[in-house]
Amino acid sequence: MNNMIAVIGAGQMGSGIVQVFATAGFRVSVYDISRKILDKSKIRIEHSLARLTEKGHLEEPAEVIINRIKFVEKMSDLSDSRIFIESAFENFDIKTNILYKLAQYLSKDSYVASNTSSLSITALSQMLPYPDKFIGFHFMNPPPIMQLVEVIRGYHTSDETYNYFWNLAKRLGKYPIYSKNAPGFVLNRVLIPMINEAIYALYENISTAEQIDEALKLGANHPMGPLALADLIGLDTVLAILKTLQKEMGERNKYKPCPLLEEYVEKGFLGRKSRKGFYEYTDISLVSRKVTGRDC
Ligand code: CAA
Repeated sequence: MNNMIAVIGAGQMGSGIVQVFATAGFRVSVYDISRKILDKSKIRIEHSLARLTEKGHLEEPAEVIINRIKFVEKMSDLSDSRIFIESAFENFDIKTNILYKLAQYLSKDSYVASNTSSLSITALSQMLPYPDKFIGFHFMNPPPIMQLVEVIRGYHTSDETYNYFWNLAKRLGKYPIYSKNAPGFVLNRVLIPMINEAIYALYENISTAEQIDEALKLGANHPMGPLALADLIGLDTVLAILKTLQKEMGERNKYKPCPLLEEYVEKGFLGRKSRKGFYEYTDISLVSRKVTGRDC
């Protein structure tokens, strides 16, 4: 396969998406604004591939997969790509600004997708010269492990684009589901209010962080508790999604972010990526966690 994929944004989701494409045999360029972010992305991918190699889950050596990836600091280096996946921070202005800049490198044969967790695909498509070639293609964290990809049609998305991405998800070994262009789509519409409720339970001293997480793990068979999951997603992202739900659904109270979540984000406690959220982490991997509870 020589389809060239471009991923814009080398954060935790962007890096995971790059890894998924490279593992499936695609050549990928990943763009971000600084070499430091790109270096961190490479380390993150190497770390994840090493774990998968250890478990015998990879069909090729990790170096072969890594060699399919280019880490680039200039958006113009993406110009030979055909499929563009935007995976920047969950903020409408940041995403529209990126799509506006990207427009100059697009032809009518290019496809563009956003990995947005909650924002309107129709609204984002306004920045693009070919909105019929634009779609929501939403991976779950961690992308190399999670099977689901939500495929979201905007008002202008053509049938051809929709079918292309549906089949692309399958080529990546993922399980696609359809979602209408509605705030939070399917997964986050359900998941994020539950996480917010767990944060309220902590805020109201109903139990400790660890016990709230144990309740959902042992009582509802969730693989990890909602507070640990919030740390994995990133507390800034959880807050951004809640604010979109609150604004777009016109329900001020139902989706009101818990004040503790707002306080943590303000303090820079963003979860695993800042090594501190509802728990503390010695590194950004999934291991090494210790409970800190409310008073962090
Ligand atoms: N790279 C490579 N391998 C990884 C990995 C990564 N980033 N993360 C986990 N793994 C592997 C481990 O090596 C392990 O492999 P085996 O099963 O072969 O042993 C397996 O995944 C399980 O990992 P762990 O034993 O370390 O830990 P775990 O059993 O708790 O699993 C988890 C970790 C997969 C993250 C699991 O806890 C889980 O599924 N949690 C829920 C995640 C979830 O809900 N994600 C969706 C978030 S919502 C979202 O992303 C949408 C949004 O827009 C916000």
